[in-house]
Amino acid sequence: MSNIAIFASGSGSNAEQIMTYFSEHPQRGRVVALLSNKSDAYALERAKKWGVESYVFSAKELRESPEVVLNYLSSKGVDFIVLAGFMLLVPTALVRQYEGRIVNIHPALLPKYGGKGMYGDRVHSAVIAAGEELSGITIHYVNECYDEGAYIFQASVAITQGDTAESLAEKIHALEHKHYPEVIARVIGEVIG
Ligand code: GRF
Repeated sequence: MSNIAIFASGSGSNAEQIMTYFSEHPQRGRVVALLSNKSDAYALERAKKWGVESYVFSAKELRESPEVVLNYLSSKGVDFIVLAGFMLLVPTALVRQYEGRIVNIHPALLPKYGGKGMYGDRVHSAVIAAGEELSGITIHYVNECYDEGAYIFQASVAITQGDTAESLAEKIHALEHKHYPEVIARVIGEVIG
């Protein structure tokens, strides 16, 4: 059984779906920690509600002393990391330690609309400005570059007349909530068992 850590910088609606899913399917994994680089992230409130321990670090700490975060993860027995709206680049030391056991979700159909600076409504605004008919989600392994690890899963949604960055964000969130927890559980089943 896997011990999962979630990294989240913002609202944490995906984190909450994941905590809900694994509390309902405890045989598939257990969320043991939620880590954030933002002490005011709403994701931390959600973790508290679910009785999940939280750990806050600064961007500088993560960049300059990743071993501190690694030690924390190891003290919790973490063997799988889920990024859910985590805004920082994951340092090499973490990527290496958790290679093949660290995943992210991106709110677009990569390889388009990804990379540094492409997050949140910026993604959805760019998709709409380009006149795309489809957008979607990409769940992928994490490597040392933003949004470039191997893809695990994609799902798409139609963009309809009158869609705004806001309305598209809502559709994308619904898609994320539907798929991310199950895809995580499937990957854990394959790589950890
Ligand atoms: C999601 O859209 C995810 O794709 C992106 O960041 C957003 C996080 O949303 N990486 P939330 O904090 O889970 O609500």
